[in-house]
Amino acid sequence: MKLKIAVQKSGRLYDDSMRLLKECGIAIANGGNKLKAEAANFPMEVYFLRDDDIPQYVEDGVADIGIAGENVVYEKKKQVEVREKLGFGKCRLSLAVDKKETFSKEWLNGKRVATSYPVLLQQYLDRNKINAEIHEISGSVEIAPGIGLADAICDLVSSGSTLLTNGLKEAETILSSQAVLISSTGLNTEKENLVQKLLFRIRAVQKARNNKYILLNAPDEKLQDIIKLLPGMKSPTVLPLATKGWSSVHSVVQEDDFWSIIEQLKEAGAQGILVVPIEKMIV
Ligand code: PRP
Ligand code: ZN
Repeated sequence: MKLKIAVQKSGRLYDDSMRLLKECGIAIANGGNKLKAEAANFPMEVYFLRDDDIPQYVEDGVADIGIAGENVVYEKKKQVEVREKLGFGKCRLSLAVDKKETFSKEWLNGKRVATSYPVLLQQYLDRNKINAEIHEISGSVEIAPGIGLADAICDLVSSGSTLLTNGLKEAETILSSQAVLISSTGLNTEKENLVQKLLFRIRAVQKARNNKYILLNAPDEKLQDIIKLLPGMKSPTVLPLATKGWSSVHSVVQEDDFWSIIEQLKEAGAQGILVVPIEKMIV
C-alpha cells in the first residue's frame, strides 16, 4: 500500500513542497513534467497537479493527502482535514485598488470586484455588510481594473510585485494563508499510520528549523548565571575545557528568542559563541 500525495506541479509551493519531502528523508526522482513519481524509500506516490485542484482530488480520495495553500482549501470548501500548517507559501488574500484610489470599506459599496476567490470574498463582504458585485475570473485578475472590467480586485499577494507592476496597491487583507497538509476524511488504518509517520517527520523538521544549537565558552564562576539563560532540551550540557577554570556549554535555543539571549549571554560573560543549524529535532 502506498500513500498518495498531491503536490503543486509548478508555481509558488512547488520548491518548498519538494524540499520538505526531501528533508523528511523521502527521495523522489521526479522527471520535471511527469504527472506521477514514486518515492524510493517511503511507501509514497506523488501526483503533480494544479494547486487549485488539490483539495478536490483529496476530497475524492484520488490522493490521500496533499499540500495546498489555505487560500484554496477554504475557497473550495471541500471535505478535507487540515492536518498541519507547513510554515511556507505564506501569502495573503487582499483587496487591491488603483494606486491613486482612496480606499475604504464604504467605498466598496456598489463597486465591481474581480477575483478567483468568490467564496472568501463573499464571506468578507457579508461580514462587513458591504454590497459589492463579484466578477469571478480564473486568472490574470490583476489586469481587470486597467481594462475597465472592475473597480477593485481580490487576489493573492506574496511579494507584492504583481500588484506593483499593474499600478495597483493593496488595500485590505481578508485572509492570511500558508501551505498546509490536508488529508481525506476516513483514511484506512494503514494509510493513517503512514500519515502519522510523515507528520512525525514534518514536525521534527519544523522544530529543527525553529531552533538553533548554541555552543559557548564560559569561565566557571559565571557558569550558573549563564546556565540560567539557557533552557536546552532538558538542561544545557557542560563540558570542561582543556584550559582550567573554563567550560564549554551546549544548548538549544528558539529562533525567536535567539538575539535577546545572545545579548544576555555576552553580558553574563560568555565567549566564543557558536550558533549552528539543527537538521532534525525530536523531543
Ligand atoms: C498568485 C496571484 C498573483 C501572484 C502574486 O498566483 O494570483 O498572480 O501569486 O504574487 P506576488 O505578490 O509575489 O507578485 P498563484 O501563486 O496562486 O498562481 P496561480 O494563479 O497560477 O495558481
Ligand atoms: Zn493558484
